[in-house]
Amino acid sequence: MRTQTHPTEKETDMNEFRGRTAVITGAASGIGLELARRAAAEGMKLVLADIEAERLEAAVAGLGVAPTDVLTRRTDVSREDDIKALADAAFARFGGVHLLCNNAGVGLTRVSWELSTADWNWVLGVDLWSVIHGIQHFVPRMLQQAEGGHLVNTSSVAGLLSTPGMAAYNVAKHGVVTLSETLYGELLAAKAKVGVSVLCPAWVPTAIHESARNRQERFGEPTPAEGLSAGYEQRMANAVKSGRLTAADMANEVFTAVKEDRFYVIPHRKINNAIQLRTDDILNLRNPTQLP
Ligand SMILES: NC(=O)c1ccc[n+]([C@@H]2O[C@H](COP(=O)([O-])OP(=O)(O)OC[C@H]3O[C@@H](n4cnc5c(N)ncnc54)[C@H](O)[C@@H]3O)[C@@H](O)[C@H]2O)c1
Repeated sequence: MRTQTHPTEKETDMNEFRGRTAVITGAASGIGLELARRAAAEGMKLVLADIEAERLEAAVAGLGVAPTDVLTRRTDVSREDDIKALADAAFARFGGVHLLCNNAGVGLTRVSWELSTADWNWVLGVDLWSVIHGIQHFVPRMLQQAEGGHLVNTSSVAGLLSTPGMAAYNVAKHGVVTLSETLYGELLAAKAKVGVSVLCPAWVPTAIHESARNRQERFGEPTPAEGLSAGYEQRMANAVKSGRLTAADMANEVFTAVKEDRFYVIPHRKINNAIQLRTDDILNLRNPTQLP
């Protein structure tokens, strides 16, 4: 059942997933793969995209979905042409897109002054421009559908906080939060039957700490992590591996939120204290409190 959380909330039509189409980026691994598994279990048709084509095919084989119900496509989400082609292929194959998960992402841990322009371009390209292009090329067509639809943009608690050592990632993920909040208001103003949620997980054990495996040649090699950067990188990798909630938990939270047409999806509730602290710092004009 949908819960009415806001008096002006629009009526989207995402109570029923069966027979509808889900497009998921970054579907070969981690959270994206679990979103795909859950979408398949809900009886959805799948359009699965990832830059790692072989890993994507292997992942799909494990889903046990009829080949007629799934389309896989090698996609570099940082490229607008690839996202447009993904949208074209999805609408051509299944006639509609009802759930769009802009999920693919990469992480890079360096102190700000050691991030090269190529580092920034890579992280912002995959983590932020991907969502911008997803909105440009999917939303106008989703708005035309009688059934409506829903977007889920994967941000992070990094989009709500400013943890040192992760500047490019933080900027990209803050961008995804404010982009999603803006889109929410616009869809409401347009009385659209299209909803949006933003997923903000803390640490989840996936392959995100091995993101360099997917760094495209045009972004060159990352500068080696030394000193402070190396320390942050090690902490990030350890934190990811020690995450208590799983990628499957994230998929569960996402599907519940879409059914409820709930915007904020923040599965790790312990992070609330840190969000509150940041908000209090801002409201009290206090310098940013550093957490241990
Ligand atoms: N794991 C965590 O702790 C965590 C926490 C907060 C947010 N997130 C976010 O969750 C999302 C999924 O990450 P994950 O943790 O499952 O990591 P993951 O590395 O297991 O999966 C990410 C997927 O994105 C794909 N990808 C990378 N670059 C791409 C590109 N240019 N084009 C298309 N696909 C590309 C990878 O091949 C991979 O399959 C990301 O947006 C990430 O920032 C993860």
